[in-house]
Amino acid sequence: MRSLIDILDFSVEEIHALINTACDIIDNPKKYSEKCRGKKLATLFFEPSTRTRLSFESAMYELGGNVIGFSEANSSSAAKGESVSDTAKTISCYADIIAMRHPKEGAPLVAAKAASIPVINAGDGGHNHPTQTLADLLTIHREKGRFNNLTIGLCGDLKFGRTVHSLINALSRYKGIKFVLISPDELKLPSYVKHDVLDKNGIEYCENPSLEDAIGDLDILYMTRVQRERFFNEEDYLRLKDSYILEPSKLKNAKGDLSIMHPLPRVNEISVAIDDDPRACYFKQVLNGKYIRMALILKLLEEAEK
Ligand code: NCD
Repeated sequence: MRSLIDILDFSVEEIHALINTACDIIDNPKKYSEKCRGKKLATLFFEPSTRTRLSFESAMYELGGNVIGFSEANSSSAAKGESVSDTAKTISCYADIIAMRHPKEGAPLVAAKAASIPVINAGDGGHNHPTQTLADLLTIHREKGRFNNLTIGLCGDLKFGRTVHSLINALSRYKGIKFVLISPDELKLPSYVKHDVLDKNGIEYCENPSLEDAIGDLDILYMTRVQRERFFNEEDYLRLKDSYILEPSKLKNAKGDLSIMHPLPRVNEISVAIDDDPRACYFKQVLNGKYIRMALILKLLEEAEK
């Protein structure tokens, strides 16, 4: 059974095909409005979410399908001590496809092994978030028209930010990619990502704690929230939370065609004064997330029927 747990589960060609489908959905939404009639998506969210859960749900509704699920661990049998495997086996009796978010790294993989229906990782702890990456890739495709020859600044919580880890994996398969890693010392990119992904693929990168110094070189600036829920103590969070705040004055050396991205939710990292700048792409990312999830649900359901 085909699932999406890690962005590398899909080849570059498969991801490009998903992007093409998403673009076709954007142009011809009516063509897709009955494609999942009679099918059910289960959204199993053991952690808070606005965009990911609701975009999966609206994606399924726009395909003519139905949705069941829960939005917090306390309202599921996890609160009684049920294992992820048993939950996945149970949901396989009710639904055709699962989207799961879980605070534990690897939980969606465990679910995929137990389930008899496709499982989509909708974020596992500080590890991966492949469907956010698909939304990011669709956004980059629409904004930049290419995946090669891009300098990408990743700014903020690179340690716990799962969106960053998946995005690095995805972009490391292209040519001419350069990453500028902008973070406080305590929130640097984990060494397993540096060694296993960047070094292994011969990807150029540098670490620069100053956003002001780095900004002029960037084609894409990917801002992230400091991941409060992954911290062991509140004091460290409070000290680090406002490490980077993008304000209009900080854009003075930025390229005219910079794309400013953020997976959202934002806390303080991007001033609302940036929202009207034509370079701001974060609300476009939200919309793209729905279309690419429609394409993903279609692909996985089609493969499950084979
Ligand atoms: C991200 C996540 O959950 O990792 N949000 C999202 O899904 N768009 C980023 C975050 O919570 O900071």
